Amino acid sequence: MFQEDTLKDRHILVTGGGSGLGLAMATYFHQLGAHVALCGRRPQPLQDAADAMGERAVAIPCDVRDPEQVKAMFDELTRRWGVVDGLVNNAAGNFLSASEDLSPNAFNAVVDIVLKGTFHCTLEFGQRIIAAGTPSSNVINIVTTYTETGSSFVLPSACAKAGVLAMTNSLAVEWSTYGIRLNAIAPGPFPTEGAWSRLMPDPSIEESYKRGIPLGRYGKPEELAQCAAFLMSPMASYIQGGCITIDGGERLMAGQFNRFVQWMPRPMIKQAFEAMKPRK
Ligand code: COA
Repeated sequence: MFQEDTLKDRHILVTGGGSGLGLAMATYFHQLGAHVALCGRRPQPLQDAADAMGERAVAIPCDVRDPEQVKAMFDELTRRWGVVDGLVNNAAGNFLSASEDLSPNAFNAVVDIVLKGTFHCTLEFGQRIIAAGTPSSNVINIVTTYTETGSSFVLPSACAKAGVLAMTNSLAVEWSTYGIRLNAIAPGPFPTEGAWSRLMPDPSIEESYKRGIPLGRYGKPEELAQCAAFLMSPMASYIQGGCITIDGGERLMAGQFNRFVQWMPRPMIKQAFEAMKPRK
């Protein structure tokens, strides 16, 4: 689908870019010719990842919760590149907890990274693009499939990601004036080490969870990376304020009779339906 120079001359910052899905997206942007900056809190994994990519990749340690650090990161990238014209707000925090057991600090820990961190980066990005009059810039916000429905046991994340989607939609209209595109991607289950160690209690749950995904498997990081590359590219130039769900169909399982698919193999379902037909 993509030519090797699809993202040539783009300068893209990926927050949480040192591991997992952030790294997968950054690696693919880089393969498609972009300059990429990996931002994260731990310097060494970031540097290792940037070194493995080689030229056109830079590691920038930064805690997105801190607006001063975010400003310094954008200053540094502007000095190196002249412009940052692509931003992926991917840095996130999440953990499973009964909501009645959350402390105010626990709520803040997630909201500060996900919602405020996204705001800090988006604001720095937008202000600079607006001041420089840079054409063809865009932002991708990574949200979740429970952004709209909410979800048990991840209340801080559900609240923060809903806020990020509201930010995406608000700015997609407000910053269209400046030609900035903002879109979101809502990934379903992607088993990265960072997410799974916090969100999947044990292997038996993992197996039964998989049966609830219509495509019968988890997502692969490169599938998310391809989706992000599309949104980042000129091929998506008329997509504004969109949210692409990438979840193997999982979000649709609420459909009343969809669970049959999960409970029984197809021949057994058909047999059951046959037995229910009125006898003539
Ligand atoms: N259950 C309940 N509360 C928890 C928790 C858990 N699993 N993990 C942390 N907390 C609470 C802490 O108890 C603390 O609250 P307290 O001061 O009232 O005790 C608060 O959250 C802050 O914890 P701390 O470890 O100091 O926060 P941090 O800022 O260092 O870490 C997290 C932030 C908690 C989100 C951490 O998991 C993180 O940094 N994750 C980043 C990567 C990630 O989550 N990736 C997965 C994305 S899907």
